[in-house]
Amino acid sequence: MKVTVFGIGYVGLVQAAVLASVGHDVMCVDIDEQKIDNLKKGIIPIYEPGLTPLVEETYQNGLLNFTTDAAKGVSHGTIQFIAVGTPPDEDGSADLKYVLAVAETIATYMTDEKIVIDKSTVPVGTADKVAAKIAEVLAKRKQSIPYDVVSNPEFLKEGAAVSDCMKPDRIVVGTENEKSRVAMRELYAPFNRNHDRMIFMDVRSAELTKYAANCMLATKISFMNEMSNLAELLGADIEAVRHGIGSDSRIGYQFIYPGCGYGGSCFPKDVQALVRTANEINYKPALLEAVESVNYAQKQKLFTHLSNHFKGDLAGKTIAIWGLSFKPQTDDMREASSIVLMKALWQAGAIVQAYDPEAMEECQRIFNDNDNLALMGTKESALKGADALVVCTEWSQFRAPDFDLIGNALTTKVIVDGRNLYDPQLLNERGFAYYAIGRGDSVKKVNA
Ligand code: UDX
Repeated sequence: MKVTVFGIGYVGLVQAAVLASVGHDVMCVDIDEQKIDNLKKGIIPIYEPGLTPLVEETYQNGLLNFTTDAAKGVSHGTIQFIAVGTPPDEDGSADLKYVLAVAETIATYMTDEKIVIDKSTVPVGTADKVAAKIAEVLAKRKQSIPYDVVSNPEFLKEGAAVSDCMKPDRIVVGTENEKSRVAMRELYAPFNRNHDRMIFMDVRSAELTKYAANCMLATKISFMNEMSNLAELLGADIEAVRHGIGSDSRIGYQFIYPGCGYGGSCFPKDVQALVRTANEINYKPALLEAVESVNYAQKQKLFTHLSNHFKGDLAGKTIAIWGLSFKPQTDDMREASSIVLMKALWQAGAIVQAYDPEAMEECQRIFNDNDNLALMGTKESALKGADALVVCTEWSQFRAPDFDLIGNALTTKVIVDGRNLYDPQLLNERGFAYYAIGRGDSVKKVNA
């Protein structure tokens, strides 16, 4: 099928390459000329396992193409994906200006029937706005060309985007148009084998499904983070509690890992956007507000542990940080806990020596003129002369480090672990002060 994808960011590029890899003829459109030129040369703007070879292969066999020419993009596809960004406004609501600009572009150049698909995560009611925008432009052009606006949210995880897209758990499609349903079945047929993964529903339910899924996952994390705070105060070990509750199949082991707060491009933005949507219709989303405020507080924890350990005196101290990305297998630092920590450390007069396997360039880009940040080439060099080590991201290379080497490199044997990677007893035996999340030295010694 002939497919056009507007917006070659994370979602758009992965979706385009995956669709091309099964034989669809895909045209990618982006306004960023540099990005499009780079993609043609095989330079991929993001780090995502398996994406580079997929883009190279599909570009070479002619099924994946790149352009900045919007008119060309509109005439190419019967199916027009909108996969542009929806950054949060100052008030937390999703900014739809890019989505509506693409709708306008499609309506300006279309000459035949189109299925327009909202792939970006957009507030409930956006498909109606996209349809209204297309109708408005067509009316101005005095044209009556049929179109349908479908909601087809993306559920991919960064770091596993290609495989999530190749083997989706479900393909949610919101439309009440029979022709669109048939087209969507055909489009996704290669990913819908063995059992039917396609879930058809009305447009608004599809839009809300995406937010409900992300908010549910964020809720699980904030719930566990709240439990970890209670564990600290009650003298319990959250890791034992996690194991204990995860064994109940109704709860399950997934997404109940306590940590230094959730980040990334989805959870913080989507929880905020749904809170905003609820406010607009005069509903107070008490649970979602709590999910967000627990997460905000959780992101301060690493600094609090350091500040408590050094009795509030962090001025002139050097802190080693392992892991800058918001999670492993990505170079993405959006809403990362490491950023909250580094800013708090600088505010307190400390210096940061950081290492991340993939996010060093991104960190450099964000904080390029900061004299109090040294980006180090290896995890070992980040430790040299530092007064404490903080682990912000659970990259596998941080899981079993040489603790003797860490102890020798640091001036004081202090580890703050935002991901509960290490055994508190082992670290205590080796003479470390070990602060983690809901365990280790973070836990108050409570008298029975
Ligand atoms: C998420 C959803 O998983 C995906 O379905 C949706 O399409 C986009 O948002 P992503 O942002 O890539 O994907 O990351 P994810 O792996 O879900 O992790 C999000 C954050 O939660 C990370 O900061 C991670 O460290 C944190 N997390 C996750 C926890 O703190 N504890 C957990 O148990 C799981």
